[in-house]
This record gives sequence, C-alpha cells and structure tokens, in this order.
Amino acid sequence: MKQLPVLNSRVALRGKRVLLRLDWNIPVQGMPSKEDLAKIEMSVSTVHDLQKRGAIVIILTHLGRPKKREKELSTARLLPLAEAYLDQPLMFCGEDILTKEGMAMVEDSLKVAGPGDLFLMENVRFYAGEEKDDHKLSQAYASLGHYFINDAFASCHRAHVSVSGIANYLPHFAGPQLVKEIDAANHLIDRPKKPFMAVIGGAKLSTKMPVIKSLLKVADKIMIGGAMAHPFFVAKHWKIGKSLTEKEGVKYAKAIIKNSKIILPTDVLVAKKIDAHARPHVVSVKAVKANEAIGDIGTTTMREWATLLRKAQTILWNGPVGVAKIPAFSHGSLVIGRAIAARSKGKAYGLVGGGDTVPVAIQTGMSEWFDHISMGGGALLEFIEKKGKLPGIEALYREPMRETKSTKIIQKIRNIVHKKGSTSAKGGSASGGKKS
Ligand code: 3PG
Repeated sequence: MKQLPVLNSRVALRGKRVLLRLDWNIPVQGMPSKEDLAKIEMSVSTVHDLQKRGAIVIILTHLGRPKKREKELSTARLLPLAEAYLDQPLMFCGEDILTKEGMAMVEDSLKVAGPGDLFLMENVRFYAGEEKDDHKLSQAYASLGHYFINDAFASCHRAHVSVSGIANYLPHFAGPQLVKEIDAANHLIDRPKKPFMAVIGGAKLSTKMPVIKSLLKVADKIMIGGAMAHPFFVAKHWKIGKSLTEKEGVKYAKAIIKNSKIILPTDVLVAKKIDAHARPHVVSVKAVKANEAIGDIGTTTMREWATLLRKAQTILWNGPVGVAKIPAFSHGSLVIGRAIAARSKGKAYGLVGGGDTVPVAIQTGMSEWFDHISMGGGALLEFIEKKGKLPGIEALYREPMRETKSTKIIQKIRNIVHKKGSTSAKGGSASGGKKS
C-alpha cells in the first residue's frame, strides 16, 4: 500500500520556500471567541517546526465563501490573531499573483526573505480558479515555492487549487496535524470497536444524510439531536410548534425513521422564543405547544443518551444537540460532551469534530479527555462517507509532475516574473503588505 508522504527530518528545508495550506477559516461575524480560534491555535506547532528547520513559510488559507474580492473576507484580518498565537510578525501578500505585476511584487518580498520568515497570502478564494482547481492558478502558486505541505484536514474534501491542485506541481507532504487527523478518523472506518455510537446534531438533516447513511452500515446507534431531529418529529406526526425545521428534511427522515439504530430524543427543552432571555422548560417530545420552540434535548434524554454512551467502545460526536451558543440551551450538548469525554481515552475511542461542535467540546472543560478533537466538519463527515478518499488526501499520494510541460511552464512564469520584477517592482516588500 502506498504511504502518505510525511515530512521527515531528512527533508532539508533551510532557506526553502514552503507553501503551507492551513485551514484558518474561522467565523467572521463579530469577535471570534477563544474556542473559535482553535484552528489557528492548532497550527502553531506546525508553523514553529517549519521555522525551526529554516523554512520560509508561505501560509495559504481560505476565509468564508467569497464570491469575489470582498474586503471583509481578506485574510489580512487574520494577521493580528495569527501574530498573537505565533508570537511574531507575518508579512502579508495581498497582490493578485495572476498579474505579472502582482506576482513580481510577491516574488520581490520572497527574494529578500530568510530562514524562518513567515508570509500570509490573500484569501485563496479571491481567485475564481481556486474552486475550479484551475491549472494556471496552481502553477502560479507553485512557482512561488519549493515544497507544498497540506496541514488543513478541514479543507481536504475540497478539490481546490490550494488543497489538491498545487500538489501536482511541487514535491508535497502531509503536515503533522493532517496525519493526526487521518489516524484519528481511521478509527471510525477501519473496523471500529463495537458498540460504535454516534451523536449527530446540527441544523440540517439534508447535509448530514450521506454520512448518516454510511454510519447506519457501521454504527450500532445514532442519536439525532438539534434541529435536524425536528423532521423526524414531523414524520411521526408530533407537533413541533414554532421550532425551526427543514421542509425537505421530512422526506429524508421518513426514509430511515424505521431503522432501529436511529435514536431520537424522548423529551425536549422548549421556550416561547429561543434567545438569551428565554425561560425554558422540559416537555415530552409529544407535548410541544403551538407557541413553543425546541431549543435543546430534555433532561430524560440527557440521562438516556449518557447511559447508552457508557456502553460504547467507539464514539463519534458531530453537531451540538441544542442551540449551544445560548447558555440556557447548551446543557444537552455539554452533558453529552462530558459523557463522551468521560468514556474516552481508554474505555472507548472518542472523536469529536465539526465547526460548531469543537467550541462546545472545549466549553465542557474536558477537552483533553477526548481521544481526538477534529478541526474537520464537512471534511470529517465526507472522510467517513468516502472511506478516507478525499481530494486533498488523494493528491498527496500522487507524484508531482517531473520535468514535464507543466514544470517548464512554472519555470517560464518564474523567468517572466524575474524580468518584470527587476523593472516594475522596487524594494523588498509586497504592496499592500504589512510587516508588523
Ligand atoms: C470548514 O470550516 O468546515 C472548512 O474550512 C471548509 O469550509 P467550506 O465548507 O467553506 O469549504
């Protein structure tokens, strides 16, 4: 079997430019919480290790889902956060590398860089070619570096330039966090120890249906919480009052509702309005009133699910089981999270993952008790569904093209840029860039 190429100590990095794909896609509305910043915190050791080895580190990430260059989604806004975690300045390269001038400016900045210098490139999704895995864009990025390292598990389900495309043109490696993530997720697909129980929550049943279908083949119980449980209630003709529900979810719920592996809440926490001022109370799932909305699982369900989890040998938790951002509706997720943490590291293999789940897992105060906290949301679910075959991981198994037309094209780009750079771009720093 082919081995995943990992960056071992034999690879000489001193003075080499390393394009490092990280996933620093954090919530952009309002001030991010400490828990929201876990993705940045997790990548610190990778960056520091590359620096210690003398690499010039060029960080690539996406931020949000921009349709074009949107100022509020510029990765420049990540600079102060990254600098705080990395404890040193980063040079920002905001230029368009698909223009000769932009590329020349970035090259000029890189030319004067030395071992250990850090660069942050502009949001990779500002390029239309990123999500199309465009060859020209891959080549343009590749022309900037000597190596490509993917340490962004959370993005590996995307066949995008910065995730898989660049690997076609540069020698590449899986970063240490990616290796850890793959090892952890393999526990779920590679003959998981039984009983295997999953807790799946969140808003939309439709987006989690593919993974639920895969889990039904391997898991023994799947506990469904959050708003994605509501279509099941509707399918059972139980009233859900003013609760959020996804209309098309009902047909999905009907397709699997008879499967005895599906476990639904037996009681729920309701309130007239799901907000910070709510005064919620617990009712049976069959007794939700027309003027009430469901915000969390009920106390009986908490006990029932915690009891089930005590028998598990493998546990996956993805998605809060209530509106966990509001303290009054966070208890179900915290209780379930703590039950999983208490069972993990020894009695069961406990894996938690997903953008909304990680902050709650941290809030349990027991984050170090889980076997693994994955930064992957969609990526983790697709990893399970597709048995590990994600574009970002598959690309690392492929050999980069050698001495082919493509590498000649990269050389050509370098030559043009060097020529252009010596006439058009003066000085050593990228325009719009910042050295703090
Ligand atoms: C995530 O937050 O799950 C990843 O960064 C992927 O983001 P995307 O769904 O916008 O590709």
